[in-house]
This record gives sequence, C-alpha cells and structure tokens, in this order.
Amino acid sequence: MTTSPAVPWTGPDPYAAALHAGHGPLFLRRTDGWLLPLDVERWCARADPVDRAVLDRCEGPVLDVGCGPGRLVAELAARGRTVLGIDVSAAAVDHTVRLGGQALRRSVFEPLPGESRWGTVLLMDGNVGIGGDPHALLGRVARLLAPGGLLIAETTEADVDERVDVHLTDAQEAVGAPFLWARLGTPALLRYARGWEQEAQWVAGGRRFVALRSRRASSSAEPPKSTAVISSQRARKPSADWPVADR
Ligand SMILES: C[S@@+](CC[C@H](N)C(=O)[O-])C[C@H]1O[C@@H](n2cnc3c(N)ncnc32)[C@H](O)[C@@H]1O
Repeated sequence: MTTSPAVPWTGPDPYAAALHAGHGPLFLRRTDGWLLPLDVERWCARADPVDRAVLDRCEGPVLDVGCGPGRLVAELAARGRTVLGIDVSAAAVDHTVRLGGQALRRSVFEPLPGESRWGTVLLMDGNVGIGGDPHALLGRVARLLAPGGLLIAETTEADVDERVDVHLTDAQEAVGAPFLWARLGTPALLRYARGWEQEAQWVAGGRRFVALRSRRASSSAEPPKSTAVISSQRARKPSADWPVADR
C-alpha cells in the first residue's frame, strides 16, 4: 500500500511517479468511482501548437499556476519571456527547472513573488479546479495580477460546474489523500468571473480557453513599483527576497 500524502499532489506517488515516467495512467477519482483521466503524457511533452497559440496571447511577466512538469514555462523562457511556474509538487518543480524554467514549490494561496504585478496568470489543463473553490481562486488570481492583467484559463469541454472530493490514483492500489477539486465549463467560469472583463473565448485542438481581464483600477492601496523582471535562476527561493519588480 502507498502512504497517503497529507497534501494532495505532493507525495512520492502516484503523481510524482507519473511525472518521472512521463506518462500515466493517472486519474482523479471521484468518491462515486468515476475516473477523470489526466493527460500526463501531453503535460510532459513539449508545448504543442495549441499551447503555443495560448502563449502568444500572454502579456508581460507570466505566472503559470500549477505548472506541472513545466512545458509552458520552458516554452516561454525559450522565447525570452519573464515567467515563473509555481506548483505544490516537488517533482513538478524539479522537472520544470530541469527543462530550464524557473519554478517555486508553493501553493497559489501562499504568499508569492510579484503579488499584484503579474501581466498574465495561466490556469491551464484544468487548473481552474485548484482548491475546489472557483470564487477563492479567481479572487486570488485577481490579487496576483497587475490592474488590467490577463487570466488565461482552460475550461472543460462539457458545460459543468462541479466541486468534488477526488483522489489521485493510478487506478491500481496507489491512492492519495482526498482533496477538493472543481471542474468548470466556459459558461460556469464566466458566471464566477463577475467583475472581470471578457477578453476572448476560443476552442483549439478540442480544448477550450477563456481570457479574462482583471479590473483596470486597483482598489488595493499598494503603489506601483519599478520596472522589472525575475533575474534569478534559483528555484524554490523564498518569496520575500525573490527579485521581481514591475515592468
Ligand atoms: C491538472 S495538473 C496540471 C498540470 C500542468 N498544468 C501541466 O502543464 O503539466 C494540476 C497541477 O496543479 C498543481 N497544484 C495543485 N494544487 C495547487 C496549488 N494549491 N497551488 C499550486 N499548484 C497546485 C498540481 O501539483 C499539478 O501539478
């Protein structure tokens, strides 16, 4: 039997094993037994044309939330863009760094470098599900973005609005601790995104995307700082001294 990690996605199995192997099988299993396959093989591959078209839309410094093994971070870094991946999984962060990207092992709900200064936040591959509370996640993303910043999120093909308890499983015996996850189709995401400007919606390669713009005038009293860029290549550096400044 595999020991269940206290925090989802962070244990040695089965997510880390799948990332190490570069493929599944890996699933989110609902309590009713329904299995949602996770496309680990695609996540571990290079950015494909659909990914690259998403990245073409990014503005300013990019934060990839739940970056997984880092194909998007690596592609943006190769383009010379300022980009940081964050993920709670050590295996995901290590993989991203090995690809040449910068990544921090950190939850999106913890303090992060560049708060309120990111030009784009990515929630790809179902990551709108993180935390199982779309209101909380959208609120957090709004606080990470600069005023008028862009959120690009991938939604499900089906028009669902679902918050469920799931386990990560390889469909054999390795089952992690249960955690809350959300699945949102585009209409559901737009319902949660009150106060955001709808920038675009598109479908490509059978995948669905929404781009939302945060409020242009920030109500937060934090004054803008200087221009800038992440200049360190060190991974897992504490946020307090991560050298991010504004563009
Ligand atoms: C559905 S997978 C997406 C994989 C990824 N986008 C990729 O390209 O490979 C969800 C990812 O989000 C990460 N994650 C889960 N909860 C998180 C949180 N609270 N903060 C940051 N990352 C999280 C997981 O470790 C996992 O890598």
